[in-house]
Amino acid sequence: MDPSALRPPPPDPSATAEMPRLDHVPGPIRLGGDLVVDPPLVLAPMAGFTNIAFRRIARRLGCGLSATEMVMAEGVVRGHDRTLEIAALSPEERPGIVQIAGSDPEVMGRAAAILVDRGADAIDVNMGCPVRKIVDRCAGSALMKDPRAAAAIVAGIKRHVKVPVTVKIRAGWDDARQCIDVAKALEAEGTAAVAVHGRTREQQYSGRASRDAIRAVKEALRIPVLGNGDVVTPRDVLEMVRDTGVDGVMIGRAALWDPWIFAQGARALREGRLGPPPTAAERRQVLAEFFDETAAIRGEHTASLQMRKFASLYLRGFPGARRLREKIQTMSTRADFFAVIDVVFAEGATPDFAQIME
Ligand SMILES: Cc1cc2nc3c(=O)[nH]c(=O)nc-3n(C[C@H](O)[C@H](O)[C@H](O)COP(=O)(O)O)c2cc1C
Repeated sequence: MDPSALRPPPPDPSATAEMPRLDHVPGPIRLGGDLVVDPPLVLAPMAGFTNIAFRRIARRLGCGLSATEMVMAEGVVRGHDRTLEIAALSPEERPGIVQIAGSDPEVMGRAAAILVDRGADAIDVNMGCPVRKIVDRCAGSALMKDPRAAAAIVAGIKRHVKVPVTVKIRAGWDDARQCIDVAKALEAEGTAAVAVHGRTREQQYSGRASRDAIRAVKEALRIPVLGNGDVVTPRDVLEMVRDTGVDGVMIGRAALWDPWIFAQGARALREGRLGPPPTAAERRQVLAEFFDETAAIRGEHTASLQMRKFASLYLRGFPGARRLREKIQTMSTRADFFAVIDVVFAEGATPDFAQIME
C-alpha cells in the first residue's frame, strides 16, 4: 500500500459553513434476506486497518454496516489460517460482510460458500484493489476493464450461496466512464448493491474522487448504490448524497481518526445538523477499548505494534501526539500505550476534524 494513500485528501474549496439541504434523505437500505443497513453509512474495507476490533468500535459508534478486509478467495478455499482469521466476523457486527477477491468464478463461489458456513451474512467482491500483485491476476480493479468477467464472478458466487452479493468497484480502470457498463452487467447478474469509489485504478489514491462517475452509476441502476471517496466530515456525507443521489455513503480513511463520523453523519442526514462532538474523555475511552479488545484477540505485543499506526492516525490534531510521535512509534507494551494516551488526553484538546484536514 502506498503510504500516501493515508494522507488526508485536500479540503474541498467549495465547502461552506452551511449544511447542504437535501431534497431526498436516504433511509435504511434493504439488501435482501435480513440485511438492512441502517443508517445507510458503511465502513469501507481497508486492509491492515478494518480488523475485527476496529469494526466493532465503528459499529458501536453508529456505523450501519462493515465488511472485513479483503481476503483472497483462493486462500479461503485452501483453508489458509491467517486468511480465515481475517475473514472472521464477531457477533457484534452482524449482519456482517466478508470481502473476497479473485478472478475465477468457481473458486469465488466455493470461497463464498465456506464463508457463509462460517457466518457471513453477505459476500462483497473487491473490484477496486489497484495493487499490481492483484491486478496481474485479473482480480480487483482489473475487472473494471471487463464487464463480462465481472458479471461472471457474481454469477459464480450466486451458484454457491443464497445470501446477498455486493460489489465494490472503482470509477474505472483508466477511464471514469467504465464503471457504468460494469455496474449494469453486475446488476443484470443479481448483485444486491454496488459501492463506487470515484477514482480510476490509474489514479490510485491521487486527485479527488469523481462524484460524476458515482452519479452516473446511480442513474444507470435500480439496485442501491453507495458513494465512496473523500468523505471526511458529516458535511461531505450530505454533499455526496446531494451531488450523486446515492442510497448510502461508504467511509474509509476518515473513520480511522474520527469513528464518530457515522453517528454525526446519520444525525446530519436526519436533522440537517450535528450533535455535540465527542469529548476528549470519550475519545480516550474508545482508543483504550480498542487497544484492550485488540490485545484480547491478538495479544498485547501485536496490539501495541498495531496501535502505533492507529494511534498516529486517531490522534491527528492532538498537540501532545505530535510531541510524542517517537514514543508512539516505539510502543511495545500496554503500559507504553497508556503512558502515551494519558499524556495526550490530559491536555483535554478535542480537535476540530475539519481543520485537521487542512
Ligand atoms: C490502507 C487502505 C486499505 C484498503 N483496503 C481495501 C480493501 O481491502 N478492500 C477494498 O475494497 N478497498 C480497500 N481500500 C479502499 C477503501 O475501501 C476506499 O475505497 C478508499 O480509501 C476511498 O475511500 P475514503 O476516501 O473514504 O478513504 C483501502 C484503502 C486504504 C487507504
